[in-house]
Amino acid sequence: MKTLKSTCVVGVQWGDEGKGKIVDILSHKADVVVRFQGGGNAGHTVVVDGEKFVLHLIPSGILHKSTCVVANGVVVDLIQMLDEMEELKRRGVKFGKNLLLSNRAHVVMPYHKFLDKYSEAGKGKIGTTQRGIGPCYADKAARKGIRVGDLYNEAFFRDRVLAFTEEKNKIIAALYGQPPLDAQRIVEEYRGYAEKLKPFVGDAVDYVNVSIDRGRRVLFEGAQGSLLDIDFGTYPFVTSSNSDACGISAGTGVPPKKIGAILGVAKAYCTRVGEGPFPTELKDGLGDKLREIGAEYGATTGRPRRCGWFDGVTSRHAVQINGIEQVAITKLDVLSGLEEIRFATAYRYNGTITERMPSETEVLARCEPVYRSFKGWKDDLSRIRKFDDLPREARIYLNFLERYLKVKVTMISVGKDREKTILRK
Ligand code: GDP
Ligand code: IMO
Ligand code: MG
Repeated sequence: MKTLKSTCVVGVQWGDEGKGKIVDILSHKADVVVRFQGGGNAGHTVVVDGEKFVLHLIPSGILHKSTCVVANGVVVDLIQMLDEMEELKRRGVKFGKNLLLSNRAHVVMPYHKFLDKYSEAGKGKIGTTQRGIGPCYADKAARKGIRVGDLYNEAFFRDRVLAFTEEKNKIIAALYGQPPLDAQRIVEEYRGYAEKLKPFVGDAVDYVNVSIDRGRRVLFEGAQGSLLDIDFGTYPFVTSSNSDACGISAGTGVPPKKIGAILGVAKAYCTRVGEGPFPTELKDGLGDKLREIGAEYGATTGRPRRCGWFDGVTSRHAVQINGIEQVAITKLDVLSGLEEIRFATAYRYNGTITERMPSETEVLARCEPVYRSFKGWKDDLSRIRKFDDLPREARIYLNFLERYLKVKVTMISVGKDREKTILRK
């Protein structure tokens, strides 16, 4: 049988680009939707007929007929996953063969969440979502993690939880002066969660590979964004996984040669939550205006997002590391009514001009953007469904963005609802 290549959706910026909306639209034609990294730190919003769904662990394809896979690269908070399933069930989603949780995925344990919270209270905070993501990935790399499959091996699971909790309790007491966790209680509690999730646990590596081999359409859903990637982002102000296309193979067991088109998602401007450099950030009233019009508050933590202009330099970096050829631009409607729109084409640093994103966060923090200015437009874009019907100024802005990034803008989002989207051939 002919092998069809799969498609992958990744964030171009610092997350919250609108990946959930784009994945939901593409899921209409996908048989399988796979989350390959991250965890409950993600917050993907899908709006259908005015009804809002926020997904954290379950792929945004769940509102369609697609089979949703939470692959080995994801770190799973079992409590959060069960809560999310309950909430979706309450709203009409039925769970059965449409959900598969990898037996190789790592489990976010209670001590991961406490350690995330305690370490963020001290100096050098990252501004994490406090969902235990960093500590869980750290234990995975240290070979002190607990995988979903381990939950069903009673003695092995108990021994590991008892040993790891004892070790973490020492750290919790010595470094943070906080009370210990009750390991025995954790074992019992997690056995209950494991039983509830048992029908959904399986070998996701085989399932996704066989699906591709049989010509089923597979969509990979990235969480976070390329600039939050542990290797290629603004380290240390990043998340703890490879949140770009580089993470797909390791996060699923699908070999690189089976991964097809990469669709990058970017806002028509830029936002960031948490600490770290953001050269095009607008710290004035205009930033506040973008936040209010764009409703820029975190889908997971509710924190206000920092807002700024589109950054061509960091976006080119994202295009390069992902191999992006197609881009979906979201929230173009938010820019309506601005006199002027800016786009960073380079940085000024120590008297020199560079078009490359520096690898050192300290250097990036001192880069001053060089802007190209565009005339704004006043029209309401929310009813526009064809590129040619967009105001001339908006077309000029998007055409420049395409040329600058050497990509094709194939989707333009002009509102949160599913249908408020311009699809280009
Ligand atoms: P994700 O994490 O990349 O899935 O993005 P989030 O869901 O965290 O944040 C994107 C926010 O923008 C959500 O509240 C969406 O409902 C909203 N959104 C997505 N596309 C558009 C758009 O084109 N216009 C407007 N106004 N809002 C949008
Ligand atoms: P989605 O998938 C935006 C940010 C946090 C923090 C840093 C590290 O909705 O785009 P972590 O909890 O991962 O250790 O936090 O990464 N962050 C996100 N920012 N969108 C996200 O996900 C994010 N997930 C993590 O704010 O700066
Ligand atoms: Mg989000």
